[in-house]
Amino acid sequence: MTDTTTPTNTQEWFYPSEEVLQGAIIKDYDALYKRSMDDLEGFWAEQAETLDWYKKWDTVLDDSNAPFYKWFVGGKTNIAMNALDRHVKTYRRNKLALIWEGEAGDQRTYSYYRLWQEVNKFGNVLRSMGVRKGDRVTIYMGRVPELIIAMMACAKIGAVHSVVYGGFSEQALADRIEDAQSRVLVTQDGSWLRGNIVDLKKVADEAVKRSAVVEHVIVYKRTGHNVMMEADRDYWWHDLMALPIASTKCETEVMDAEDPLFILYTSGTTGKPKGILHTHGGYAVYTSTTLKWVFDLKDDDRFWCAADPGWITGHSYIVYAPAILGVTSFMYEGAPTHPYPDRWWKMVEYYGINVMYTAPTAIRGLMRFGSTWPNRRDLSSLRLLGSVGEPINPEAWKWYFDVIGKGKCPIMDTWWQTETGGFMITPMPSVGLKPGSATRPFPGIDVDVVGEDGKPVKAGEDGLLVVKRPWPGMLRTVYGDPERYKNQYWGKFKNLYLAGDSARKDEDGYIWVIGRIDDVIKVSGYRLGTAEVESGLVSHPAVAEAAAIGLPDELKGNIIYAYCILREGNQPSPQLEDALKNHIRHEVGPIAVPAHIEFVKQLPKTRSGKIMRRVLKARALGQPEGDVSTLEE
Ligand code: WT7
Repeated sequence: MTDTTTPTNTQEWFYPSEEVLQGAIIKDYDALYKRSMDDLEGFWAEQAETLDWYKKWDTVLDDSNAPFYKWFVGGKTNIAMNALDRHVKTYRRNKLALIWEGEAGDQRTYSYYRLWQEVNKFGNVLRSMGVRKGDRVTIYMGRVPELIIAMMACAKIGAVHSVVYGGFSEQALADRIEDAQSRVLVTQDGSWLRGNIVDLKKVADEAVKRSAVVEHVIVYKRTGHNVMMEADRDYWWHDLMALPIASTKCETEVMDAEDPLFILYTSGTTGKPKGILHTHGGYAVYTSTTLKWVFDLKDDDRFWCAADPGWITGHSYIVYAPAILGVTSFMYEGAPTHPYPDRWWKMVEYYGINVMYTAPTAIRGLMRFGSTWPNRRDLSSLRLLGSVGEPINPEAWKWYFDVIGKGKCPIMDTWWQTETGGFMITPMPSVGLKPGSATRPFPGIDVDVVGEDGKPVKAGEDGLLVVKRPWPGMLRTVYGDPERYKNQYWGKFKNLYLAGDSARKDEDGYIWVIGRIDDVIKVSGYRLGTAEVESGLVSHPAVAEAAAIGLPDELKGNIIYAYCILREGNQPSPQLEDALKNHIRHEVGPIAVPAHIEFVKQLPKTRSGKIMRRVLKARALGQPEGDVSTLEE
């Protein structure tokens, strides 16, 4: 099933300029790729050497219990040691680690030394609340520096963070707290978006009510609006950070390379979100190597990944990898169009951003306002651009390339997933680009496009995207559900990681990702399971049954279209449609709200009762329904 954003093989090539080529860290992709495939373990060991280890590993890759692969076995490290501790001993101590701008225009900067101190302080606060190595801490915040501080503090003391994106609502947050069994929740009073307050604390209160495990709630004061503070449960961040216990010295927990670093929930085919688990060692090696080579980062670069730290893109490329490399990361709190559509470009100019990384949906959104806004700003500091989240359509690619990059900044279209930890299929600056293709696999990554039989398909044919060999940044398991990990990713083909995407490989070996093959919808780059929307809908008393599908949309890539069968005694009405949308906004979050809800009397199902979303989609698009032999209607 294709949609409007599916790239077409334009065969239009873009080659890097002499200037970009000259500066590129990796100049010969083919040679490096070949070397990595010839000696996978040697290649990754070499990259691991760029990090600091308390004790070096004994074995690079342990595949004795596949697909539960282990990397750098026996190695002792801590990602926070690599991101902070080691820098404060060098010239980087006084270098900016983070530049932050609030939506209202307020600014804060952190040198590596300042960030290290804050992380140490908060690490001590967490320890004083009884948080120990291996304990889970849920973080539900907006885009403020304290989010990064909280994440790194968890890492430092060996706790496992579970960041829940601030756009999720009550039930979604409660489910994630419950699954992780977090005793501590870190949140804030509210965050700013388009000049309005997003009332995070209120959502957190409701979620805590629904999940009995939380004992302590730490609240960072950002907006200052009135919030409920429950005695003996809720504490202000600034009060705790002012206590003597919050000293600037905090011992870093010595972690095993394979010890868990974080859980990040993502959508799959069932309503229950999957807790994707990443570790200290392999993840640090993988994210830092990919960031360095793909975005060609030099020590004096200012890098802006415009994602939210609450998603994997932010975990890997706002929080951890830039700090491991010791570069300066920029983060912005609010909406791209606030107060005017030139906000992003104004900040690129002001801070002199060198490399910018965002999503096609954001590019399309800003493109709508025309080129006058970016053209009024000096964007000449930009050297490279990046894209992630969904295939980038040629129109958006062209605009990004011409108007933002002024025709001189190659666009790194990075294909990867929450599960992969970092970029998997991606260009590097020295590689020729074809707009709409994520080009070729990163060194050390062995990918292919296969048919239902697991055998590679011919060039130009559609197939399933698979990874043939393990990599250090891969997920280790689904938290608390190793069977799901095994079945979901390694169950279809023996020894092949199934990404869940369909793709094509062209004659030049370039890969064109088409889209999801499962019941996952990409809305504005966000990943949503149809089952999450459906279970949200049926939790409303008026709804008996629901089905959700994704339909192509010019701006968002896809939008959600939902069908509902009402319970006896309820009548379809525009008011009910609004009530249901509100219900979803409240329970799951604004990103899961269907664009349309259609009330129906029945839904196409298989004889075993499974809703045939494929048929619904074909009907909605006016396309042939395909094989309907199993349809019972
Ligand atoms: C899915 C993973 C990885 C960070 C953000 C998304 C789609 C991602 C691309 C791209 C085509 C892409 C895939 C993938 N996707 N990047 N460059 N070209 N499709 O992470 O939420 O785990 O979603 O996003 O469908 O499977 P995620």
